Amino acid sequence: MQGVCVSILCVCICVSVLLHSAISQPPTESDTYTECTDGYHWDPQTEHCKDVNECETIQDACKGEMKCFNHYGGYLCLPRSASVIPAPEPPITPTVTNPCPLGYEPQGDSCVDIDECERDEHDCQPSQQCINSLGAFTCQCPDGYRKVGTECIDIDECRYRYCQHRCVNVPGSFSCQCEPGFQLAGNNRSCIDVNECDMGAPCSQRCYNTYGTFLCRCDQGYELGPDGFACNDIDECSYSSYLCQYQCVNEPGKFSCVCPEGYQLLGTRLCQDINECETGEHQCTDTQTCVNIHGRYQCVDTNRCQDPYVQVSQNRCVCPANKPACRDLPFSIVHRYMSITSERSVPSDIFQIQATSVSPGAYNTFRIRSGDDNGDFYIRQINNISAMLVLARAVSGPREYTLDLEMVSVNPLLSYQGSYQSSSALRLSIYVGPYTF
Ligand SMILES: *[C@@H]1O[C@H](CO)[C@@H](O)[C@H](O)[C@H]1NC(C)=O
Ligand SMILES: *[C@@H]1O[C@H](CO)[C@@H](O)[C@H](O)[C@H]1NC(C)=O
Repeated sequence: MQGVCVSILCVCICVSVLLHSAISQPPTESDTYTECTDGYHWDPQTEHCKDVNECETIQDACKGEMKCFNHYGGYLCLPRSASVIPAPEPPITPTVTNPCPLGYEPQGDSCVDIDECERDEHDCQPSQQCINSLGAFTCQCPDGYRKVGTECIDIDECRYRYCQHRCVNVPGSFSCQCEPGFQLAGNNRSCIDVNECDMGAPCSQRCYNTYGTFLCRCDQGYELGPDGFACNDIDECSYSSYLCQYQCVNEPGKFSCVCPEGYQLLGTRLCQDINECETGEHQCTDTQTCVNIHGRYQCVDTNRCQDPYVQVSQNRCVCPANKPACRDLPFSIVHRYMSITSERSVPSDIFQIQATSVSPGAYNTFRIRSGDDNGDFYIRQINNISAMLVLARAVSGPREYTLDLEMVSVNPLLSYQGSYQSSSALRLSIYVGPYTF
């Protein structure tokens, strides 16, 4: 195939040369002669020698598969596939003619492609790309543009592409975008949830990632602020005055109860009196007895017997009958101590008196001999030998009572002059604490 082409090319060049030489041939002789060279005949009308078309005048000028081509002063027999390039117009100034096809130029013996793009011999728009090809060039639009006429128009890829959330067309391209809380996946189209908790979400305590967003939560004892991020301490103490028996102290995230001096916390909210006499905190001397009371302790003299009484045992004083001063006094005094809280509901049984030694057949009566000037107490007799001291009024401490409770025994059987009467007393020290506990 290549051989044929080359031979045709050669023929063409030959023909072209021939045609040039022919056309440059003027009639050989002057106008006065009527004789022309071979292949021409005299045209009297124009008075010029005129070419003879041998292909028409000679029968079977070419044989076989050959084709007849007329030319000035003769004819050519060429293969049927050959074509003859018409002779170009005679150049105004004689130059070397380019014998190569359009877009090619001769280089040595052959024709090579002209790179019109490199030589800037193209008419592509500035927005277009010049692409060289064999014998020609094309103007192409960059990726993402399409050609409309001579213009390059941006393609709106968003009309064709799939983005999970949002598509944004930009000149020459497009991009997928995601809603806040999502990020573009590796395929550049899908959107995947962002775990804001791992990305430094501004939750001050607990962060929970959710689809597309996150939630802040607070630890127990805190509540979420209006901004949804901050956790503010809850003042539990303001909720109720019953949270603590004595005093509530708010702390970050919680609360605690405190107790007054002399008390310790029992559990979380109750206050329990400290028994300083047992813990050894007291500072009572050897001649004193430590008495624990609500919130504190009391040091009392171990021997509280005052003349004319004499001590016969711990807490017990006796007034000997042979002493004249003892005539109208209770025969014995027993010391007792007790502590009660403030604001007890009343009436309230607080102390039971019991006769320790009873002579058969005796009547026993009980009364408050002294110490109850306001009438805060009364005695309820239970039977012959016992009675109950009752608190009649709500009292608040700190306060101290010293009550002498007297038991009078009358025994009609032991009567010398009428009847025998004896009395004994219980000296009860009552400490009312400052609190209701
Ligand atoms: C996604 O986009 C980035 C940046 O534009 C690019 O480097 C990457 O190759 C793209 N991935 C896919 C799967 O198209
Ligand atoms: C209680 O008093 C009655 C009389 O009312 C008497 O008979 C009885 O012996 C007394 N009991 C005691 C235990 O003293």
